[in-house]
Amino acid sequence: MKETKLAELMQQMTTEEKIGQLTQIKGDAFFSHQPNTGPKTHDLVLTESQLWQVGSLLNVAGYQKVKQMQDAYLAHSRLSIPLLFMGDVIHGYQTVFPIPLLQGCSWNPELVAKCAYISALESGYAGIQVNFSPMVDLVRDSRWGRVLEATGGEDPYLASLYGASMVEAYHQAGMACCAKHFIAYGAVESGMDYQFVDISRRELFSYYLPPFQSCIQAGVDLVMTAFTTFEGIPCTVHPWLLNALLRQKLDFQGILISDYSSLVETIAHGYSSSSKEAAFYGISSTLDIEMMSDCYLSSLSFLFDSGFVNKKLLDESVWRILSLKNRLGLFENPYGLANEEKEKHFILSAENLKTARLFSSESFVLLENKHHLLPLTSQSKIALIGPYADNQGISGAWSIYNEKNQNTVTIKQAFLERNLDFLYAKGSSVLPEEEINFILSMEGNSPISPSPSSTLQEMQQEAIEVANQSDVIVLALGEHYKQSGEGASRSMIDLPSIQLDLLRLLSSLGKPIVVLLFSGRPLALKEVVPYLDALLWVGFPGTEGGHAIGDVLFGDVNPSGRLTMSFPQTTGQNPLYYNHYSTGRPADQHSPYRYTARFQDIPPKPFYPFGYGLSYAEFEYKALTLSKTTLSLDLEKNDSLTVSITVKNSSSIAGKETIQLYIQDCFASVVRPVKELKHFQKVYFAPDEEKKISFTVTLSDLMFWNQDLAYIVEPGEFKVFVGRNSEDTLEAKFVVSPMSN
Ligand code: GLC
Repeated sequence: MKETKLAELMQQMTTEEKIGQLTQIKGDAFFSHQPNTGPKTHDLVLTESQLWQVGSLLNVAGYQKVKQMQDAYLAHSRLSIPLLFMGDVIHGYQTVFPIPLLQGCSWNPELVAKCAYISALESGYAGIQVNFSPMVDLVRDSRWGRVLEATGGEDPYLASLYGASMVEAYHQAGMACCAKHFIAYGAVESGMDYQFVDISRRELFSYYLPPFQSCIQAGVDLVMTAFTTFEGIPCTVHPWLLNALLRQKLDFQGILISDYSSLVETIAHGYSSSSKEAAFYGISSTLDIEMMSDCYLSSLSFLFDSGFVNKKLLDESVWRILSLKNRLGLFENPYGLANEEKEKHFILSAENLKTARLFSSESFVLLENKHHLLPLTSQSKIALIGPYADNQGISGAWSIYNEKNQNTVTIKQAFLERNLDFLYAKGSSVLPEEEINFILSMEGNSPISPSPSSTLQEMQQEAIEVANQSDVIVLALGEHYKQSGEGASRSMIDLPSIQLDLLRLLSSLGKPIVVLLFSGRPLALKEVVPYLDALLWVGFPGTEGGHAIGDVLFGDVNPSGRLTMSFPQTTGQNPLYYNHYSTGRPADQHSPYRYTARFQDIPPKPFYPFGYGLSYAEFEYKALTLSKTTLSLDLEKNDSLTVSITVKNSSSIAGKETIQLYIQDCFASVVRPVKELKHFQKVYFAPDEEKKISFTVTLSDLMFWNQDLAYIVEPGEFKVFVGRNSEDTLEAKFVVSPMSN
């Protein structure tokens, strides 16, 4: 529709119709007219007329359902303004891809984008028009359940790269998208969800803001506010964050949407004293859509009529919402991408499943491979054991459109298809019954039906018998998928104890053990690794998980995943991240000294570092050289130098290696991280192949936010590190000189 017509339409709208556009409710309540219940904290009950006024629905999908709702809504809408259907297609719709934290370990932005594109088409054909993705929160504390959603892990450069790739992919598919959660939600104190966040503006600019800048530059349509506070003010109504920073400094002109009832929760925060005040703070901070609460519906009319709020703010918000509906062509075709034929034939297509299988196997991270136990041969006599060996619950949190997992391929199924000589035993459940029932009760679900007659001892005995008849044990272990995701912070990030018991029991048989680790976060594995010979982290691998695991176990795919989040020695080592500051007493891993920055009872290093991952191939790094050792500070020149390194695949197995380049600004007007990822290249090597890999380092790689929040580069000494991960590198030095040379 032409903008002039859209403006005319908006002029015809009543204040109530405009306010309705600013509210989003769950779709299933819309049709059933049931009171919309949010989290325990807040019940939402709308009047009949309010129900028909809302501007968008949350998490409704399926061509028929969406069409029915849209038709019903349009029939009630005086001006025929279509609904927007928004949803959380976080890592796939029906074809579920690996969890985002694992996707990021592929260090393959093109692949991440391809899966975002497929997810957008599958869900788009089913009626979703706006995706609440990418989640670009920086994460440093694996106690936080939502680290599984962070494609970029602990690195702002990766988070920015992946965020922009996903925005572009969603747009290519014709879907609008939303960067979340603004801002620094991942910095919650002690990794506890929804908890207090207290960081400086400089930390915000340095680590948490870049991914949002990158998404905004890529054209992201919405930004979702975080549940948390920043500088003591809830992000959802934060004047400086939303007005000064997002709208003015970053020039974000898209839609600002709250998180689920986060506007009314500003009362629980102790910031707003009423829904009326919450509505005042929200609209004054240009919050456009209130998700799942009714402060706007109940109070905006009063605020405008009484002159507390300028109606211009309402029109600006409505204009942003109508403009998005118009951009998506909904006034001409209110169903958007929805298409019944394509919904039938594209969703879970062989092509999509093939991509999912490839993506999962490309993301897995090989953490241990003692005596080169892997890859296995298909002649091996295998004992396939563990609670995840024949378990379809491997899609992880936020696979909300495919919760039944009926298409998910288990490891056992994949083994059967390979006609392997294997025996199977479950060995133990994922968690003791009382533990999973407590988690279920916390989310209002009924307990699982009592497990079959076999007791834990009988399950363990059966596992031992199966193991005794085999040459090698493949043990599929991990945290329960409900132990990760939103509202799933854990105070101990260990493997469930009944599974550690099973591992110890089996290791006493003296057979080689391959552990396949399922988790939505880095776990504390110090007590696990001594009992195993090979360890493959598969995160929650999604629909094609079983096939992808088989592909890596038997060498059809050489694992190339590299960690984007450090694995800690113990829970207590959190928060943990590679781009940390030196401190005045940096600890030396090789000569323990009491009075240094370290814990007394663990080594001063991660258990597995950022960027780490093994391959079946062997790569050697040598001959790190710089094209010059002085860069001119003259920004006009935008001087640069070339960093080169020779990498050789000294094995007879082809493989992909991710060569990583880090930089340290050794001395500056504010302390700088000991290293920061600035470039990487994921490169294929044939057996015995040697390549010279080059990177260009420019002044823009050296810029940082100083204490006055100016983005600058300073003269001085720099180090460049190039290697296979953040700890195993070759290094060289260069200087930035104010003299132009
Ligand atoms: C949830 C999450 C957010 C999600 C939204 C809608 O509480 O915080 O990431 O997009 O609500 O489901």
